[in-house]
Amino acid sequence: MALLPILHFPDPRLHTKAAPVARVDDRIRTLIRDMAETMYEAPGIGLAATQVDVHERVVVIDVTEDKSGLLALINPEILERSGEQVGEEGCLSVPGIYDKVVRAERVKVRALNTQGEPFELEAEGLLAVCIQHELDHLDGKVFVEYLSTLKQGRIKSKLAKRARITA
Ligand code: NI
Repeated sequence: MALLPILHFPDPRLHTKAAPVARVDDRIRTLIRDMAETMYEAPGIGLAATQVDVHERVVVIDVTEDKSGLLALINPEILERSGEQVGEEGCLSVPGIYDKVVRAERVKVRALNTQGEPFELEAEGLLAVCIQHELDHLDGKVFVEYLSTLKQGRIKSKLAKRARITA
């Protein structure tokens, strides 16, 4: 297992559209284990492969408090969305920044599991938010892009200042 470095906004690589996984093999299963370890260590409740500079459609999620609900989604697709919820979101690629985003309250997702078998999942609340947030990453979208240009500018300068201090 290995901890993977996480890209930080506004790194242009975060805007890469990820390609579908052609074959679910040991390479992908190792990637998922490493992504899960990286997410738990951060700590975070979701991580997309895009954030660790791997541009394939893989995400890991665990919204439980005791790390008992690891969910790996390969080639995920949202089949249905309904309702609306507004929650404070954060992102391991945008450290220390939290803001409100409007999302669907419920989603139905189809994905492949770590054995390459298709499954469907219905989610609501926080899990639904997390799925939508992580799937955005696979399409090259970071949550702060839902915010105003003014706010995005402030976030960029805040993160740049912090990077200079820690460098
Ligand atoms: Ni994120």
